[in-house]
Amino acid sequence: MLSMKAVRIHKYGDSDVLVYEDAPRPVPGEGEVLIRVHATSVNPFDCAVHAGYMTGMFNYTLPLILGSDVSGVIEEVGAGANGFSPGDEVYTRAGVFRDGANAEYVLAIAADVTAKPKSLDHIHSAALPHVSLTAWQALYELADLSEGQTVLIHGAAGGVGHIAVQLAKLRGATVIGTASENYDLLESLGVDQAINYATTPFENMVHDVDVVLDTIGGDTQQRSWTTLKRGGFLVSTIQTPSEEMAAAYGVRQAMVLTSPPIAQTLTEVGKMADAGKIKPVVYTVLPLQEIKQAHQIVEGNHARGKVVLQVIE
Ligand SMILES: NC(=O)c1ccc[n+]([C@@H]2O[C@H](COP(=O)([O-])OP(=O)(O)OC[C@H]3O[C@@H](n4cnc5c(N)ncnc54)[C@H](OP(=O)(O)O)[C@@H]3O)[C@@H](O)[C@H]2O)c1
Repeated sequence: MLSMKAVRIHKYGDSDVLVYEDAPRPVPGEGEVLIRVHATSVNPFDCAVHAGYMTGMFNYTLPLILGSDVSGVIEEVGAGANGFSPGDEVYTRAGVFRDGANAEYVLAIAADVTAKPKSLDHIHSAALPHVSLTAWQALYELADLSEGQTVLIHGAAGGVGHIAVQLAKLRGATVIGTASENYDLLESLGVDQAINYATTPFENMVHDVDVVLDTIGGDTQQRSWTTLKRGGFLVSTIQTPSEEMAAAYGVRQAMVLTSPPIAQTLTEVGKMADAGKIKPVVYTVLPLQEIKQAHQIVEGNHARGKVVLQVIE
């Protein structure tokens, strides 16, 4: 059996459970491809996985390789995984339900894989999958954001938020974004109104929006109901909004749970990136070995765009 370097957890806990070590190199099965990972990224989801918060939702077996974003090159093609050849440059989200992409190689379901954006290097491509799928499904599919509408995006400088701002502008929406330490990023992302949530209660400034994208939850979500117009839509990435509150305010609500199919959306996102319409912001790039530091940055909750792990220099 061939081996590879990977970041695995053998038990649940804080970032000390992340171990950079040798692991068996996987072999693609029916309908799968093996991707040589060039870059991957850290999402708060990965932190929730190693903390053990996702065990009620997913039936993980330990040891488990973390990570879902991957940009890399097809190494091997399994039976029936048509449309790919070794050497193809691809990107996708892989391993949410099983071993992931914080490794030298990752298995992916071929139907989930698409060509990497040509204009981006692997570092920037790896910043996109998880957050762009989330922002797309929240704004375009669930909230059906349309031209001329106004959207309030909480956490606009974060991984999901900074892509959501760009997708909303591409739809022709007016965008209000919140941030604090990363406030300066908002203007360059194209927000029409930036609010520093640390100094200004956003609910005093924002009224009659069509859509709220909540990436924060808790008190931020609670204070968002009054910002919506009747018939508006509150969509959260983190906490299912109360049906009772939605009814009381005459609005709709949903929680996004990023789910397949994903290849078509990633293809569209890739085209937008190649057209210069979507620009992933990479906050920092660390080698895969520095996984603990990468997780600590994300857990600090003030990342600016994405924290990317480089696997091949
Ligand atoms: N359901 C799903 O399928 C799904 C998918 C993706 C993500 N998520 C969840 O969505 C959440 C956001 O993910 P992410 O990748 O965007 O996280 P992230 O990149 O780690 O978010 C960091 C950002 O949050 C901002 N922030 C922190 N507190 C804030 C507040 N009170 N108000 C406004 N902004 C605040 C920070 O801005 P400042 O530094 O400027 O304060 C920072 O830019 C996570 O909980 C994640 O697990 C869910």
